[in-house]
Amino acid sequence: MRVASAAAAAPSASPVERYLSALHARFASLDDGAVATYIPELSKADPSWFGICLATLDGHVYEVGDARVPFTIQSVSKPFVYGLALEDRGKAAVLERIGVEPTGEAFNEISLERDSGRPRNPLINAGAIAATSLVAGRSLEDRWARILALFELYSGRQLALDEAVYRSERDTGHRNRAIGHMLRNFGIVREDPEPALDLYFRQCSIDVTCRDLALMAATLAAGGVNPVTRERALSADNVDEVLSVMTTCGMYDYAGEWLYRVGFPAKSGVSGGILAVLPGQFGVGVFSPRLDARGNSVRGVAVCSALSDELELHTLRAPRAALSVVRARLDLRASGSERARSEGEREALARVGHQAVVYQLQGDLTFTGMERVVRQLLAERDDLRFVVLDLERVHEVAAPAAKIMCEILVGAAQQGRAYAFVGLSRQARLARALGETVAEGALSHLAQFAELDAALEWCESELLGKREAAADADELPLAEHETLRGLDRDELRCVLALAQRRELAPRQFVVREGAPADEVFLLVRGRLSVLAAGPDGQQRRLATLSAGTCFGESALVEHGTRSACVRADGPAVCWALPRSALEAASVERPRLMSALLANLLRSSLGVV
Ligand code: DON
Repeated sequence: MRVASAAAAAPSASPVERYLSALHARFASLDDGAVATYIPELSKADPSWFGICLATLDGHVYEVGDARVPFTIQSVSKPFVYGLALEDRGKAAVLERIGVEPTGEAFNEISLERDSGRPRNPLINAGAIAATSLVAGRSLEDRWARILALFELYSGRQLALDEAVYRSERDTGHRNRAIGHMLRNFGIVREDPEPALDLYFRQCSIDVTCRDLALMAATLAAGGVNPVTRERALSADNVDEVLSVMTTCGMYDYAGEWLYRVGFPAKSGVSGGILAVLPGQFGVGVFSPRLDARGNSVRGVAVCSALSDELELHTLRAPRAALSVVRARLDLRASGSERARSEGEREALARVGHQAVVYQLQGDLTFTGMERVVRQLLAERDDLRFVVLDLERVHEVAAPAAKIMCEILVGAAQQGRAYAFVGLSRQARLARALGETVAEGALSHLAQFAELDAALEWCESELLGKREAAADADELPLAEHETLRGLDRDELRCVLALAQRRELAPRQFVVREGAPADEVFLLVRGRLSVLAAGPDGQQRRLATLSAGTCFGESALVEHGTRSACVRADGPAVCWALPRSALEAASVERPRLMSALLANLLRSSLGVV
């Protein structure tokens, strides 16, 4: 990708703008070809006109040169009217009248398929006239209004007929009239062809700009939705058909070399427009009236060839995205929840943590990406019991990938392996498919969590099983709490004497944010949640505390206030050790405070 010299462009210009400007400068002196004259009005075009535009899928449009000069759309109109015919009549009915094969002939060739009489594709004049004849409407004017409205959906602005070009084309369009009556003869057009011919001349004479072409292309690149207005111009199902014929037939008898050299769907017009579509990426419009012998803009073809080569845009180039759909794979030993656990639980999880893994996925989960995920999942150890699929960074799950995912879950359930999802609520297609799988009885239930930490905690609880249940129900004797480990008999007796027992009811607060931090707490039964107010003022769970852990230890090192609340999830018991009492006891027991701090530090580091 050659970038213009920095001095040539303002420092604030984006590298993309600089590149497009350099491309324009590179081909502005290319004067091969000639302006079309067979439609007399077209001969009035300024051969020097030259615009390049690129429209992104979020609606940004880069414009270089003559981006706003109006010209008639001509054959670039054909894919859009073909899409309208598909919408109006359905694929089968259209295919019955119009083929989808490249011809290798000129755009105005008077030829139909030998046996069926069909025009070979909708982008040569014969196919285009047939497509226009299929546009539904109560009257000729109604059909024309629908065609103009269609182009305004794609361009995102009001458009108009160039009356002079329309009259010029209508008055000289004898070859197209011959094609129209030939179509009538073979029953492709089943009524008087004149109205269809008139509509065709009008659709070709709609005034557009280079910018419009880029936005129309971007609408197709976005699956049929205009990236600026967000209005749908074509159903997603029919976009594939339109882009397919643009890929194989859009450049007529240059189509093969176009696919070889450029490699993305495009359509040219004899006014000098070329519209190119990069599906899922962006749309390009190029305008320059000088045409080559095949009726394609010389500068337009040169610019698109350079874009393809220098920006690596050939659609048959392997998409790298599929190789990086698995962002990370971590087992519970490497990535546990925020839950503070006792030493015993930590030891147990260190032993079995490999039985639960998290797959962080990203990007578009297409069939290709999903195939890679499935292969990795199926290669996991047999003793793997829990899999968390984190979809927070997934853009979209394609239908084939959703189907594969459902099959994986059903098969895993039969092996005793459970799956859980994070971020499923944003993947409607996958959520629907999984819901249907549960409704059919193939899956007993669907575990899904709003946050990864909650999913990790679920895996830990499942792995700990009875041990955790016991910790919730049984009360740990205070003397056995890990925070008191290593105290001598006198120190332990002293701490047990100054400890204050707190029995908590479900949802009872034991610590409030902002309260003075003057006690440290040892949890001996049940489970507590650490909560803090988010930017929206809502309480968010930061962590969960299990029996055997401690909290509020900051009270021993600073005379501050609480930075969070702590609330009982269910019935719980903890012991409070007031700082003042510990400091008094330490006067005669100098080792006491350091022993407590060492144990608190060991617990917070999770060091077993
Ligand atoms: O029908 C014609 O001849 C013109 N209205 C359109 C031909 C055209 O744009 C060919 N494309 N390069």
